[in-house]
Amino acid sequence: MSESRPVPTGREIKLDKKKIIVSKTDMKGVILYGNDYFVEVSGYSEVELIGQPHNIIRHPDMPKAIFYLLWQTISQGKNITAVVKNLAKNGDHYWVVTDFESSRDSMGNITQYIAYRRPVPPQVLEVIEPLYAKILEVEKVHGMRASVEYLNSFLEEKRTNYNAYIAELAAPKGLTARLFAQMKKMFR
Ligand SMILES: Cc1cc2nc3c(=O)[nH]c(=O)nc-3n(C[C@H](O)[C@H](O)[C@H](O)COP(=O)(O)O)c2cc1C
Repeated sequence: MSESRPVPTGREIKLDKKKIIVSKTDMKGVILYGNDYFVEVSGYSEVELIGQPHNIIRHPDMPKAIFYLLWQTISQGKNITAVVKNLAKNGDHYWVVTDFESSRDSMGNITQYIAYRRPVPPQVLEVIEPLYAKILEVEKVHGMRASVEYLNSFLEEKRTNYNAYIAELAAPKGLTARLFAQMKKMFR
């Protein structure tokens, strides 16, 4: 983007646990659709969002390594759940657990990507925030290859991968899980 980015305020937006934030993109990550809550939380108008690359809401605290992993996974047609910190138009931020999925045409080709977001439980943030800060530090000094390696060795030590790690850490439970699954269906 050529325009200047919002300056982060450090203020967190309190998300409604009963709502999900949904957006759809083309194969390149250009926003095609956002539900009302996506528009509301972002602080942009729908017109400002549609047609923009999804990095319009990227927060500078997010390591590139996470997006590298995201694209590597979804471009192969696999789903991934990731914890993401996003930046609103006024510089405030919000943390979300995001399920990234793909839509396919009748031939099985991927046509769009969809992201379903819910608030990050505080106990998940306690683990993820320092982990991302560390990854970002490595990235700033040594670049993305090193930060991806750092993340991989962190996960290997735990004998897991990113998706399984996040799924275990942040899986919705009980009523929340059912509500989230139902809400996701409405946007398919
Ligand atoms: C369906 C979908 C939803 C996305 N949602 C977000 C998001 O909420 N926040 C974000 O920073 N990036 C999101 N991305 C990733 C962006 O496309 C982009 O890769 C990321 O912001 C990093 O920007 P950069 O590649 O310019 O560094 C999404 C991508 C897809 C395909």
